[in-house]
Amino acid sequence: MSTEATTPTRVLVTGGAGFIGANFVHHIVNRYPNVDVVVLDALTYAGNRESLATVRSRIEFVVGDIGDAGLVDDLVRRVDAVVHFAAESHNDNSLADPRPFIDTNIVGTFTLLQAVRAHGVRYHHVSTDEVYGDLPLADPLRFTESTPYNPSGPYSATKAAGDMLVRAWTRSFGVRATISNCSNNYGPYQHVEKFIPRQITNLIDGIRPRLYGAGTNVRDWIHVEDHNRAVWRVLCAGSVGRTYLIGANGELDNRTVIAALLEEFGRAPDEFDQVTDRPGHDVRYAVDSSALRRELGWTPQYLDFRDGLRSTIRWYRDNEQWWRPDKVATEAAYRRNGETRL
Ligand code: NAD
Ligand code: DAU
Repeated sequence: MSTEATTPTRVLVTGGAGFIGANFVHHIVNRYPNVDVVVLDALTYAGNRESLATVRSRIEFVVGDIGDAGLVDDLVRRVDAVVHFAAESHNDNSLADPRPFIDTNIVGTFTLLQAVRAHGVRYHHVSTDEVYGDLPLADPLRFTESTPYNPSGPYSATKAAGDMLVRAWTRSFGVRATISNCSNNYGPYQHVEKFIPRQITNLIDGIRPRLYGAGTNVRDWIHVEDHNRAVWRVLCAGSVGRTYLIGANGELDNRTVIAALLEEFGRAPDEFDQVTDRPGHDVRYAVDSSALRRELGWTPQYLDFRDGLRSTIRWYRDNEQWWRPDKVATEAAYRRNGETRL
């Protein structure tokens, strides 16, 4: 493994119109104005041009599929680094229809790897803690870089497959790649299908939040800005061939998150509905990010989940025009997929 301490000058960001990708583009454009940013995004249901509206004149935006080998090759040859966020990212969708997850998360990743291999371009692969499976409740155990892969569902299986391709292309073809596996993100521009924005927008609309099953499942929450600062740090200073785990010690069960949201909206603690549980629902995620902190000096800046949640609620209140068009279709999809009150 080699350590590179270089700042790229021209970066291709895949999935830059999605939640984390868009926040990453904002971060780079605002913090590193000398870095040229090219975004490649297929604008699936999860991508939104409006997420890049305020930085639109300062980036190049290409609408296209990461599985389009010709397009990907043309774009990759013009940059000195690729940061790969594009994915099908929602577990519930992967249970209803796994096919797009195979195409984007596996074949799309393969297509990017072939291009960075051909052009000798530095590659950072954004992945998830879900590749490690889940952990028991109330256990001191957390995921580390050496935890064996054990994905539970179609989404995490395809993300695990993508990670394996990256490792193989690094070893067999000398691709200069790093991987990061992060825990659950929250913050602005997250699609209303996901847990926190779904409940915030429900509450804004006077609808009761929806809790899957008993709500004892634990997620390890991190603010999206902390995730993105870590990704940039790994890209600029990480060791090629390495995996870095990103997490902010933010373990909370879903019931606690709903209780916090109800309190923020001034609603009674029991004003939520328990609904059909997710099949194969992972019990607990928890990330040990001490290697990243020790080796690259990264620390999260959002240390108080309640503060982060409050600013996220404010963002959704102030940006209704951003999420409103997706809300009806998202709730219809949940009903179509059989969500019912318990
Ligand atoms: P998202 O669903 O909000 O955004 C995905 C983006 O990728 C969208 O803009 C979509 O249009 C684009 N896209 C999808 N298929 C594409 C294709 N074939 N070609 C080009 N673009 C395509 O996802 P997100 O939550 O921002 O996640 C980004 C990445 O981070 C994913 O790789 C995900 O696995 C990973 N991740 C997410 C979280 C989280 O909590 N959201 C945590 C850890 C890791
Ligand atoms: O751990 C990282 C992963 O976090 C990322 O790789 C995924 O892309 C991202 O979507 C997220 O996966 P989860 O499945 O954990 O996130 P989601 O927001 O779908 O659900 C969070 C928890 O909340 C989970 O335990 C299911 C539960 N849930 C979800 C929804 C949408 C509810 O109780 N009610 C809901 O309405």
